Order: sequence, then structure tokens, then C-alpha cells
Amino acid sequence: MRWRIADTVRSRAARAVTGASSSLPPEGFHVKQEGTGAPVIEAEPAVASELAGDRISVLRRFADDLGTRGELLGLIGPQEAERLWSRHVLNCAVLAPLIAPGARVADIGTGGGLPGLVLAILRSDAHFRLIEPMERRCAWLSEQIETLGLENAEVLRGRAEEYHGAWEVDIVTARAVTALRKLVPLTAPLLRNGGEMLFLKGVSVQSEIDAAAKALRAHRVTEVEVRELGAGQLDETTRAFRAVVQRPA
Ligand SMILES: C[S@@+](CC[C@H](N)C(=O)[O-])C[C@H]1O[C@@H](n2cnc3c(N)ncnc32)[C@H](O)[C@@H]1O
Repeated sequence: MRWRIADTVRSRAARAVTGASSSLPPEGFHVKQEGTGAPVIEAEPAVASELAGDRISVLRRFADDLGTRGELLGLIGPQEAERLWSRHVLNCAVLAPLIAPGARVADIGTGGGLPGLVLAILRSDAHFRLIEPMERRCAWLSEQIETLGLENAEVLRGRAEEYHGAWEVDIVTARAVTALRKLVPLTAPLLRNGGEMLFLKGVSVQSEIDAAAKALRAHRVTEVEVRELGAGQLDETTRAFRAVVQRPA
């Protein structure tokens, strides 16, 4: 029997793959049995515990499940399990300190849980609405909320625009949903006066801001800034677009 071995601190998925403890590789390694198609999940970086604190065990359970079943369920792309922590989970985790205690947050297009579920795990002092139109993704999110025992998160199946005028939150978050010029009109109506946009964005964030100038003006979005997150913690820092909506009295 041949194994591909990747250094990791977890062994749960290894047991799931092998189904027999007697054939497990040495403790502390995560495996993929050649030919089974089972995913190799990235080793958990040491900084994960630093970022998650006492929530690390819950975050680890979520990451394990997403890495093991995410590709099959169409939640993450092929090969993404191999960079699950660095590219996805921790990339979202660094947003957690920007959420104010007690904040009502709506995460738009949560998909497999990024960033909404990661933030709900890390910030049990805030409340999260996970807005997602796709039924299977909503089923996954609901299952995770139940399994992980999260009392501060709920799933709303639908598109962001369906909730305009229905309720308001303090913060909207989003990652990989659409370009800023479209994201602003989708999300601004969900924010209270003075509410904040926090969007994870790629390296082209400044050109997205330039292209969104008209939408930013139309929706009275002010205090626009780009925060570089994860410096000294992540191998690759990430960028968050942050801005405030100011409506006339
Ligand atoms: C590329 S996925 C990104 C998922 C997740 N945020 C991530 O970073 O992995 C985009 C998600 O946005 C959802 N979506 C697209 N348009 C939306 C809308 N108008 N309102 C809410 N969700 C939307 C899609 O169903 C999909 O799950």
C-alpha cells in the first residue's frame, strides 16, 4: 500500500480515509491513499492557534470537514484542500479583529463558509446572517452551524438584494462574490447609517475602487480604505476593503 504523506497535526481525516487504525501512518501525519481520490488537506499552520485562540478546536473541525468534503460538494475547487488553511481559512480569520463586539453582521455569498462561518466561529460575541442563494450550499452551512454548535449564526437562503428594506446590520462582509462596483449596490442597502463594509479583495483592489467610483458616490460610501491584514502572521498578507455608509438624516 502506498501513501502520499503531508505533514499535519490532525489525524481524524486520516482515520476516515483508512478506516483502520492499524494501517495508519506515523502519528502527526495526514495521508491520502493513492488512487482513492481522497483529498490531501494542508497541514495546519502553527499561527492558526494564535489567530483562533480558544476557538481553534471548532475552527479545526470546520476546516477538516471542508477539506474532506468541500470539493465533492462543489464548495471549493480542485486542489484547494492542499492550501485550505493558508489560502482560505486563515485568509478569512484575519478579518475577525475588525468585527466590533456585539455587531450584527451579514455575510453575502457565504458559499462553503468563507468568511461568514469562520468569523462566526471566532467571534461568538457577534451575530452572523449568512446570505447564500444556492440550496446545497445553504444545507452545508446549516449542517455546520448545527454540528459545530454555533448559536450566533443563521442561514438565509436568497440573494442579497432580496433583503433590501427588510432589515439592516452593522457590518456586511463578502469574499469572491463580485467586483466592487456591483458589490456596493448589493450591500449598501443592508447597512444601517454608519454601518461598515468589510470585503476581502485581491491585489487589484485599487483598480476595483477606481472602477466603483460612481457606485461609491451614489450609495454615500465614505472613509474608504484598504487594510493590509496578516502581516507577520500569514506567509501572504491579504487585503480588506473597508468603508462606511453615511446616509442623510
Ligand atoms: C465564488 S463563490 C464565493 C463563496 C465564498 N464567499 C468564498 O470565498 O469561498 C460566490 C458565492 O456568492 C453567491 N452569490 C452570488 N450572487 C449573490 C447575491 N446576489 N447575493 C448573495 N449571494 C450571491 C454564490 O451563490 C456563491 O456561493
